[in-house]
Amino acid sequence: MKKKKQLFCYAIICLVITYIYSCKQIQREQTQIVSGIVWNDTDGNPINVHGGGIMFHDGTYYWYGEYKGDSTYRLHWVTTWECWRADAGGVACYSSKDLVNWKFEGVVLPSTPEDTTSDLHPSQVIERPKVIYNDKTKKFVMWMHIESPDYEKAHAGVAVSDSPTGKFTYLGSFKPNGEDSRDQTIFKDDDGKAYHIYSSEWNKTLYIGLLNDEYTQHTGKYTRNFIDQSREAPAIFKHNNKYYLITSGCTGWDPNVAECAVADSIMGEWKVIGNPCIGQDAESTYFAQSTFVLPVADKKDTYIAMFDRWNKTNLIDSRYIWLPLTFKDGKPVIEWKDSWSLD
Ligand code: DGJ
Repeated sequence: MKKKKQLFCYAIICLVITYIYSCKQIQREQTQIVSGIVWNDTDGNPINVHGGGIMFHDGTYYWYGEYKGDSTYRLHWVTTWECWRADAGGVACYSSKDLVNWKFEGVVLPSTPEDTTSDLHPSQVIERPKVIYNDKTKKFVMWMHIESPDYEKAHAGVAVSDSPTGKFTYLGSFKPNGEDSRDQTIFKDDDGKAYHIYSSEWNKTLYIGLLNDEYTQHTGKYTRNFIDQSREAPAIFKHNNKYYLITSGCTGWDPNVAECAVADSIMGEWKVIGNPCIGQDAESTYFAQSTFVLPVADKKDTYIAMFDRWNKTNLIDSRYIWLPLTFKDGKPVIEWKDSWSLD
């Protein structure tokens, strides 16, 4: 009788192990990009990398983004807008060879709970980090939006690392060219020059500034673009020697209509060419906000438009919306796909 019981227990354990293993297998064999559902990493944990961007380096994609704390709260003492926020957990990194299966590489720029005076204390805000590689210094350089809890600080922060997976050393934050810096991205051009693109002047005007050779500071050369047009969430890319910039309007965590602009020079002049999104829910950007446009390596003219579908009352559960960006009549077009693959 005892032996039968033992055998039964053994069979149950085997079944459980087989089930767990097959789940992981399914996870590993992921080939489709399915926007809006929970995305798990290769360990089976939900991916936590919001407002992010991707760097391709030595055959691997590295996805950097906000590592959000798991409870969301509203700062009621901020009365001018709905200031929902989660503790800043630092900047996370995931790696992938195929853009579908993502391995968690850890929090590469951790927050500093022990230092209440630091920009990186969880009570502060760390948003929209982006990383580029400097071929001359051999450093990975991260730029991010650094904020006070009420979003009045408007600083850009910089960190560097010798490895794409960190840890990054924080160099500090400042107001570039003496002005606000909120939503932001960075762009490395084919000639090795790099630029910081950031919402400034209380988000009313978008600045584009040339970085120094180390990519760690501004050179003082910058342009003011989309003056008084209140654009944020910049996502920039280059196609056939023209620069394209997708931005959102300014409505806090709530979605609005996206806009695309084109320029022959990255410093402008920029010409607005309308909403790149088409089809159902295009007017609300599929209930999401732009964060990055990724040119897929070794696939000519293949771009992924990356968005965040913010869940303002549960920010860690904000979802990733990745859609193919194609060109029609010389203009970028993004259309909703329930499920798609890079093939
Ligand atoms: C819109 C920005 O694009 C987000 O990154 C974030 O800062 C929210 N505003 C906060 O409301």
